[in-house]
Amino acid sequence: MGDKCEKNMHKNVCDLKAMVKAQNKRIDELIRFIKEGSQTDIPQELKSCTCNLNPYLECLNPDILHHLNLDTKTIDFPKVFGDVRFVCLGGSDARMEKFANFIIGEIGLKLSIAVHLRNISADGHRYALFKVGPVLCASHGIGGPSISIVLHELIKLVHHAKCQDPVFFRMGTCGGIGVEPGTLVITSQPLDGQLRPVYEVVVHTQPQLRPALLDQALAKELIALSNPCEDGYDTVLGKTLCANDFYEGQSRLDGAFCGYNPQKKMCFLQQISQMGIVNMEMESTAFAALTNQAGIRAAVICVAIINRMEGDQINSPASVLKDFDQRAQNLIARYMRKVLFKCDEDDIETCQCDDAPGCH
Ligand code: URA
Repeated sequence: MGDKCEKNMHKNVCDLKAMVKAQNKRIDELIRFIKEGSQTDIPQELKSCTCNLNPYLECLNPDILHHLNLDTKTIDFPKVFGDVRFVCLGGSDARMEKFANFIIGEIGLKLSIAVHLRNISADGHRYALFKVGPVLCASHGIGGPSISIVLHELIKLVHHAKCQDPVFFRMGTCGGIGVEPGTLVITSQPLDGQLRPVYEVVVHTQPQLRPALLDQALAKELIALSNPCEDGYDTVLGKTLCANDFYEGQSRLDGAFCGYNPQKKMCFLQQISQMGIVNMEMESTAFAALTNQAGIRAAVICVAIINRMEGDQINSPASVLKDFDQRAQNLIARYMRKVLFKCDEDDIETCQCDDAPGCH
């Protein structure tokens, strides 16, 4: 057996041990909960971790989360969603269903072959929502307005459910600026189309500028979990330009309309590249502003499906795009495993493997 193989097997055994230990611990907690009943931490005793929320929410009985097809009258939010620790968002329903099925195995859960995941919000006909243990997976559609609506409802969901310090992720695709297709980009600072670090919301005809801030420590933790040599692709941290459009808003020459020439386009791309912008997408400012306002830790991880310095049309084969799509999912899964199985000091002690993923 080669060195690399042996090292991988060692890592897998180590991961497995940590997972079994964490699950045993969880079973002990459940047994204790059954024995001691209401004397233990029952979800109702916990407080919501969100801040700055609408004061009128408390007057709503029930609160109807229309687009997610959920309401606080027919659903016991703390009971159904109280254990949620990660909320993952991505553009399409299909991507999020795939991610939900992928994450089952990644966090050590198992579904009977007779069971399949249900889209909880299917009857809302707008967004998809799946729950896999402590992970909620939601689609957000395209652009700021679409992600804003689902975020309002997801933030209310974690508030009503009293979820404890949930972490939100947006995973998606982007246009790279001077980076190879396939590069994973973690956003340090999203900027809007006018290069401002804000999300503009027009209220009563007046523009309000909400700070679009992401958790810097979380971004660094994520980059530390990447491993370019083993992954076979780069993961970089940089600024993201969040446009309101895929075509003119991102200086493409292939939209139905175009009011500039190729020289103007290249000049713009070079200018933003010099400012430290490494990618363009369409949701990061809204995502960062809403999560920041609610006091929720959040990160944006997108894979570049094109280098915009080299063209506008996405012409990679479907199989390549499928492989790219998996990359943000892998990094998020690594982070979740680290949080769920490795952060406990007991678990770290049992893990004799210095170079297990996530142990650094
Ligand atoms: N998403 C975008 O918004 N732009 C791209 O170029 C690719 C994906």
